Amino acid sequence: MFKDKTVLITGASSGIGAELARRFARGGAKLALVARRGDRLRTLADEIVPTTADTGQTPRIIVADLVEPGACERAVAETRDAFGRVDVLVNNAGIGEYGTFAEKDLPATERMMQLNMSALVRLTHLVLPEMLSGRRGWIMNIASAAAFQPTPYMGVYGATKAFVLSFSMSLWEEVRRAGVVVTCVCPGPVRTGFFDRGGYEARHDFTRFAVEADWVADRAYRALVRKKPVFIPDRLNRLSRFLQRFIPLKAVAKLAGKVLG
Ligand SMILES: NC(=O)c1ccc[n+]([C@@H]2O[C@H](COP(=O)([O-])OP(=O)(O)OC[C@H]3O[C@@H](n4cnc5c(N)ncnc54)[C@H](OP(=O)(O)O)[C@@H]3O)[C@@H](O)[C@H]2O)c1
Repeated sequence: MFKDKTVLITGASSGIGAELARRFARGGAKLALVARRGDRLRTLADEIVPTTADTGQTPRIIVADLVEPGACERAVAETRDAFGRVDVLVNNAGIGEYGTFAEKDLPATERMMQLNMSALVRLTHLVLPEMLSGRRGWIMNIASAAAFQPTPYMGVYGATKAFVLSFSMSLWEEVRRAGVVVTCVCPGPVRTGFFDRGGYEARHDFTRFAVEADWVADRAYRALVRKKPVFIPDRLNRLSRFLQRFIPLKAVAKLAGKVLG
């Protein structure tokens, strides 16, 4: 499906993004990998090269902080310089934050909002016209199971992911007849570097039921191929999403507060 297609992946230096890069590489895609840690991107690119040898394309590394002005524009421009166009955009870069809202550092919270929401919207807006005019394109947005419910002690993070889900579904309806696929992936806890920062460090119990990043990436890839608008990889969170429909929002917030507090 993605052989010789150009895939721009944000947050490819670790976790789900790195595993998605490996998955698309196995499918023969040409990759543009974006993150701040260039050393990690280079190590990943070196590992990926042999699997894309048949296309003769080495991944393009773009070291960028997507919150900085002009970074999204540069990421898209460098991808086009290297490969001509962006066929697939994977908006994966994201960070979280744990703790009571009143005690969190506001500038850090606002940076999270800029990365999780504004950069995703900006990148999408930059690549969409080309996809629409060519009547072909794929956009994968990584939200979270947190998108479906209030998330006390990580309220702004959950709200950014609710934004990603809502935006993705609206976009899906706008572009689905124009040959552009939009898939919003909503994983539960995944064992990645996500929990090593932002206040999550002390909550090792959050990863007790976590799944592996390569498993999530493989399923997310297949969901994109199948043109699924929303995809929750694991059964537990699919069940939780189903049950939430029958519980008042106030009760969901209280229950989530007990689990996350
Ligand atoms: N892990 C989970 O339990 C979980 C569950 C649901 C959803 N998610 C979502 O999955 C996505 C990937 O997270 P992960 O779990 O794989 O965590 P991760 O291993 O920490 O990966 C986050 C990625 O985002 C990049 N990033 C962070 N800030 C950036 C910035 N300012 N500019 C550019 N890139 C930046 C990081 O690279 P650099 O640090 O090198 O810049 C890294 O590659 C996120 O959107 C997260 O919200 C995670």
